[in-house]
Amino acid sequence: MSLLQVRDLSVIANNAGRDITLVDRVSFDLAEGEILGLVGESGSGKTMACRGLIRLLPSPNLRVQGGAVRLAGQDLLALDEAGMRAVRGGQLGMIFQNPSSHLDPLMRIGEQIAEGIRLHQGASKKEARQQAIEVLRQVGIPDPQARVDNYPHEFSGGMRQRAMIAVALGCNPQVLIADEPTTALDVTVQAQILRLLLELRDTRGLSIIMITHDLGVVAQTCDSIAVMYAGRLCEHGSKYALLANPQHPYTAGLIDCQPAHSSGHALLRTIAGQPPLLDALPPGCRFNPRCPQVGALCTEVLPEGARVACHYPLGERP
Ligand SMILES: Nc1ncnc2c1ncn2[C@@H]1O[C@H](COP(=O)(O)OP(=O)(O)O)[C@@H](O)[C@H]1O
Ligand SMILES: [Mg+2]
Repeated sequence: MSLLQVRDLSVIANNAGRDITLVDRVSFDLAEGEILGLVGESGSGKTMACRGLIRLLPSPNLRVQGGAVRLAGQDLLALDEAGMRAVRGGQLGMIFQNPSSHLDPLMRIGEQIAEGIRLHQGASKKEARQQAIEVLRQVGIPDPQARVDNYPHEFSGGMRQRAMIAVALGCNPQVLIADEPTTALDVTVQAQILRLLLELRDTRGLSIIMITHDLGVVAQTCDSIAVMYAGRLCEHGSKYALLANPQHPYTAGLIDCQPAHSSGHALLRTIAGQPPLLDALPPGCRFNPRCPQVGALCTEVLPEGARVACHYPLGERP
């Protein structure tokens, strides 16, 4: 059985009395030690889907609707806020694109890591500090004995991202949700952080949901890929199958836009057109206005499907 099961999870926004579906019945599984890449253009609902599943929605006009989220058999949607808070800082960790806004600037790095260790592992103050040093070492902070007493502003951007990973690891999570963890970093540091996440998967059996708009990051890091478009999952499968043989025209378009596929030209190709506004969705498939292969059903019926949500998947054309 998979470690994390997400079934038909929706996130709704209420704008001036009107409901808009930001995330529409998203389902996926995550196995122990699996790294799942959640990809899609900016605004496709990647962050909302993950914040919905941990019920940490950034604004009071947002709510989770229906569905089921099970972590190691436990139904998370049935938990009250206190229960959910315990799961969040415990079995489920989250790291963000911008560590500065999630580390406390007035608290020493070591204290921020130790807090989780004390809370979730019942360690004494002294033990927790010792473990914090150990976690800092694990995430590749040089001289952790001294660095443990630094404040966030004394760390570089890449080190702050490592520190945020250390804070999450202090709670000993089974699942780490990483929301664009390397987007703000330069290429070298980005590669280091991705390597660190892979290492943590290998040494701790950590499962990771990696949110990114960058297929290159996914190709380097993930085992499986879920592609989001306008609030819905349009394709989901193993990295190998999906990159070698995309079934959804949107996935194929994303792959074509990767720099490696643009035959050395500096100019990056993009898929023509814009994603639809969520309060003015086209009838049928949400991708149909941009799809190069629209068929008869596409403008009438919303396609469903766990592997691919397309009426005419590639390779199976009529
Ligand atoms: N508080 C809000 N109320 C209404 N819509 C919102 C709110 N916050 C974000 N959105 C919309 O939700 C959609 C999904 O956003 P998000 O999950 O952040 O996308 P991604 O992470 O894929 O870039 C976007 O269209 C965004 O404009
Ligand atoms: Mg996002």
